[in-house]
Amino acid sequence: MLRTDEQTRHFDDFADILLRCNHLYRPSLDSITLLNAVESRRQIEIFDYTNSADAFTRAFGMRNSLKCLQALTSLGTAIHDYRKVCDLGCGSGAFSLAFAYLARNPNLELHGLDAAETQLSLSEELMSVARLPGKFAFEQRSLPAPIGYLPDLTLSSYWFCENEHVIFDPALFDLTVGKELLVVDYEKIIDHITAFLPRGFRVLGRYSANIEVPAALTEFVAQEKASVHSIHIGRVLD
Ligand SMILES: C[S@@+](CC[C@H](N)C(=O)[O-])C[C@H]1O[C@@H](n2cnc3c(N)ncnc32)[C@H](O)[C@@H]1O
Repeated sequence: MLRTDEQTRHFDDFADILLRCNHLYRPSLDSITLLNAVESRRQIEIFDYTNSADAFTRAFGMRNSLKCLQALTSLGTAIHDYRKVCDLGCGSGAFSLAFAYLARNPNLELHGLDAAETQLSLSEELMSVARLPGKFAFEQRSLPAPIGYLPDLTLSSYWFCENEHVIFDPALFDLTVGKELLVVDYEKIIDHITAFLPRGFRVLGRYSANIEVPAALTEFVAQEKASVHSIHIGRVLD
């Protein structure tokens, strides 16, 4: 885990990267309406990304990326060693961006997968504007599905909440995990992953934290604090 002052510095530096991409994140009428509707319902939502990818990114993109950054600090310095990384349900690239920022690894090969073409184009644009070290490729894929290789690390933020059945099916769950898996999601989803973890996997760490949104981002994020829940899973080697 990073020390608090180091963590604050990471968040402030990361805010600069997010602001570099501010044209993707600036709130719009649609994003404010979406945010207000979601907050008034107070339930796990499944969005229609064909029509609302842009509004989703403006409403939740920065917030999700900050949460992913916080969860990634639990990997400590090991973050620099993952080479093949897959972002499952990458959406508009919240987790990919946070990972690439913290890893600072020119050998990184990050592969984002998502069913929604509109989300993938936002991911591509985000990563090209952010100019972080590594190679990035984004591909349309309906998941879970075999992806042809075993990533060193699979990332997933707010994908399991839209595909909860995968948690309860060991064969499908297996398809979502590289050598390791780091999930950011609602606390209830993290509880279910912990409780139903199939044989052959083990919990490497489970974390909850509150983050303070950097002052420079509050106009985009529309809140000053956010809570994050994550779980780090590993395969049990024979
Ligand atoms: C709540 S968004 C999260 C996006 C991003 N990871 C983030 O944290 O901002 C969920 C994403 O998963 C994608 N998704 C949901 N179910 C999927 C499936 N079965 N196959 C592929 N993509 C899926 C959606 O298109 C959407 O982009």
